[in-house]
Amino acid sequence: MPAAAVPSIESRLGFSTLDQEVAIDELELSGELPSWLRGSLLRTGPAKFEIGEKRMRHWFDGLAMLHRFTIERGRVSYGNRFLESRSYRAAREQGRMVYAEFATDPCRSLFKRVQTLFSPGSAMPDNANVNVARLGERFVAMTETPLPVEFDARTLEAAGVRPYDVPGQITTAHPHLDRASGGMLNWAVKLGVRNRYRFFMVGRSSRDRSEHRLLASLPVKEPAYMHSFGLTERWLVLVEFPLVVNPLALALSGRPYIENYRWKPELGTRFTLVDRLTGETVGGFRTDPCFAFHCVNSYEEDGEVVVDVCGYPDAGIIEDLYLDRLLAGKPIQAAALTRYRLRVADRSVSREALADVDIELPRINYGRCNERPYRYVWGVGDGPGGWMERVLKVDTTDGSAVSWSQPACYPGEPVFVESPGAVDEDDGVLLSVVLDATAAASFLLVLDACSMSELARAEVPHHIPLGFHGQFARS
Ligand SMILES: [Fe+2]
Repeated sequence: MPAAAVPSIESRLGFSTLDQEVAIDELELSGELPSWLRGSLLRTGPAKFEIGEKRMRHWFDGLAMLHRFTIERGRVSYGNRFLESRSYRAAREQGRMVYAEFATDPCRSLFKRVQTLFSPGSAMPDNANVNVARLGERFVAMTETPLPVEFDARTLEAAGVRPYDVPGQITTAHPHLDRASGGMLNWAVKLGVRNRYRFFMVGRSSRDRSEHRLLASLPVKEPAYMHSFGLTERWLVLVEFPLVVNPLALALSGRPYIENYRWKPELGTRFTLVDRLTGETVGGFRTDPCFAFHCVNSYEEDGEVVVDVCGYPDAGIIEDLYLDRLLAGKPIQAAALTRYRLRVADRSVSREALADVDIELPRINYGRCNERPYRYVWGVGDGPGGWMERVLKVDTTDGSAVSWSQPACYPGEPVFVESPGAVDEDDGVLLSVVLDATAAASFLLVLDACSMSELARAEVPHHIPLGFHGQFARS
């Protein structure tokens, strides 16, 4: 298991508010961009960590800002804008926190808390600071509440309409692509007299609700906190870690959302396979307790379902990411690239570590390899100075790793973009937004995804707080 690392003092800048919104036609560029690279990297992440007198408590709480890096004819333009969610608008207009976040609550009555949970249309937060997804020609910012926010990829303005309905109160910001239809697969927790996990698909092409389908519905007593899920050619893969919630507590406890979840290691880690076409479920896979935010990839091989995750020994990582701990330089658990093999015939589960390095914010050559056997994972990991200091490439076949780093630089999720006509899985570039603490500014880093050598960087005139996820949209 890789050792815990501490965030360096310099990385604190990554958790400080960015208020400035800009649109810049051409960033200062060094190096050379591949001539084939054209399109926009669209990212979301927290950018405002206080509202009035109220300070956010957790990294995941900050108000969302969108960032756009557009690469065209060897030049890079940039724009950023707060996501005009109703959480953001209410905060701006009232000068106080109105909607609850992951680990920070405004003052609310019991009635308001219950209303938030059971009437998502009126009272749920929609601070979509986790991920961006493309749905046909539309773009949506997402978080774990059922209120995705559609936005204009050019201006970053919110569209003011809900792009689709989510059949529940809790969902993930890590949908998968349905290759056959171009639609989006995801799940939600439907809370009620009987709670259920619901897998659903959203059509790609229009707002036509007839394209939206419920794929499966599974009863659950205490839903697990799950940030993502796996997908193979046949199966949706639900990975339930033993961090679970009594739904009544969500409504009645008075605690912030995530603090209602309880670690129950006696439950172990449970896997359920759900047939994508029929909704048939195959459960009964159980192994030792662990926790993960991110499923890296899943596929079927020789009667087994392989599920790779960035695994932690327990859910302490959620505690580690409270802002007071990050700013105090407390140790942060490391994630290990972990492979589970589920043998369908006898429901046995085996587990192995794929590499001896820590890795988070994982990306793969998704278009080619998702649902299929694959070789490479890119992500961020700890460096000699502390937490989140390297961009990593890990070879899952032998555990070897290659990395890029620079002193006092803190890279974000590396997004893989495949070269046209690529033969090899790693033939392409990585795009990562890097915080340079020495310059008190960020830059877009372009790496050769094969060698991990730097090709180019484009300098932004301000710092960009450390964020989570984004997508590259080709143009
Ligand atoms: Fe994530």
